Amino acid sequence: MRTLITNIRTLAGIERNGRLRLQGSEMSQLETIDNAYLLIDGERISEFGRMAEMPPSALQADKQVDAKNGTVLPAWCDPHTHIVFAGSREGEFEDKIRGLSYAEIAHRGGGILNSADLLHSTSEDELYRQAMRRVREVQAKGTGCIEIKSGYGLNTDDELKMLRVIRRIKESTDMGVVSTFLGAHAVGRGYDMASYVDLVINEMIPEVGRQRLADYIDVFCDEGFFTPADTARILEAGAKWGMKPKIHADELASSGGVEVGVKHQALSVDHLESMTVEEIELLRGSQTMPTALPGTSFFLNMPYAKARQIINAGLGVAVASDYNPGSTPSGDMKFIVSLSCIKLRLLPSEAINAATLNSAFAMGMSHDYGSVTEGKYANLILTEPIPSVSFIPYSYTTPIVYKVFLKGKETEF
Ligand code: NIG
Ligand code: FE
Repeated sequence: MRTLITNIRTLAGIERNGRLRLQGSEMSQLETIDNAYLLIDGERISEFGRMAEMPPSALQADKQVDAKNGTVLPAWCDPHTHIVFAGSREGEFEDKIRGLSYAEIAHRGGGILNSADLLHSTSEDELYRQAMRRVREVQAKGTGCIEIKSGYGLNTDDELKMLRVIRRIKESTDMGVVSTFLGAHAVGRGYDMASYVDLVINEMIPEVGRQRLADYIDVFCDEGFFTPADTARILEAGAKWGMKPKIHADELASSGGVEVGVKHQALSVDHLESMTVEEIELLRGSQTMPTALPGTSFFLNMPYAKARQIINAGLGVAVASDYNPGSTPSGDMKFIVSLSCIKLRLLPSEAINAATLNSAFAMGMSHDYGSVTEGKYANLILTEPIPSVSFIPYSYTTPIVYKVFLKGKETEF
């Protein structure tokens, strides 16, 4: 099946050089073609160029889509979500408005443990149903590749239950999906820190590994949660099963998470709201993508990651939604791109690269996703007619998605 998209006002996010991530000044280069066409063969992009230079053979495609002067760009890649969860936590939203901090709520046994209790009493089918509703929600907003974490189980059975739900999602969507085991998200009820870390290492990781339920491993390495020393032990145990790290670091305090992440060749270190200038230097020369979650800073009224400084230091930055019931109940990547401009001080071109190619890199998926490149999956957003690419983050609540293509198929909403 070949699909031809014609009359594209601007085709954006083209990467011809095979780069898997962009760093420093490269991040503001967003290659575009005006008045373009794009041809999809099966699930993948097969060619593109200027309408005026379209080969006649392209017209023999099985299906034609008139872009009607809309813009085409790579679908968003969201490399950090907790989209599998049960219920919601708007009670804590009220507590926060009344003055309690995220850390105080967690300390009182709310927060993540609250979601773990809800998840425990929710059946696997119901959990899948709730998660799929969110998957469809973000798909309609243009997400085409997503990472999903466990971490609301906090005992072996419930962590496995979450990971099975993620596997089912993987099997039932044309989005790219990667799964991350986050047993070390909080200390599960009935355990102390030491016995819980032992449980993660000696029981959960081997079982997750045996059942091949996770691509990656994550630890919430932060003040009041897991220490860098425990994080290192957990990452080493995961490495034995081939799970690469992606970790939560420096959300609540400069926690040593960046250092332990880089040392263990993490794909990404995420959050970074409290990251110091010295920690920026630790990332230099590494394959670890610093990943900002500006939706979390927005929702929790907390400082924003120093993404501008990181790019100015010559490094790359990715952004993600962190969609979860506690610290940011939204997976709207267009809004994340707007926040990246407004709050992280990224240019629209930098923010779009951070939410496509670099965010695909942050989950080890940029060989297949995150840019308009021949051979990559045709996971694309076709917008309504818009005056320029910068209009996307500028119009921060205007819906601009006209169609979403996943693996070459126009998705139904
Ligand atoms: O990324 N920081 C840790 N975990 C999540 C929040 C989880 C929750 O509150 O349910 C986060 O913000
Ligand atoms: Fe998170």
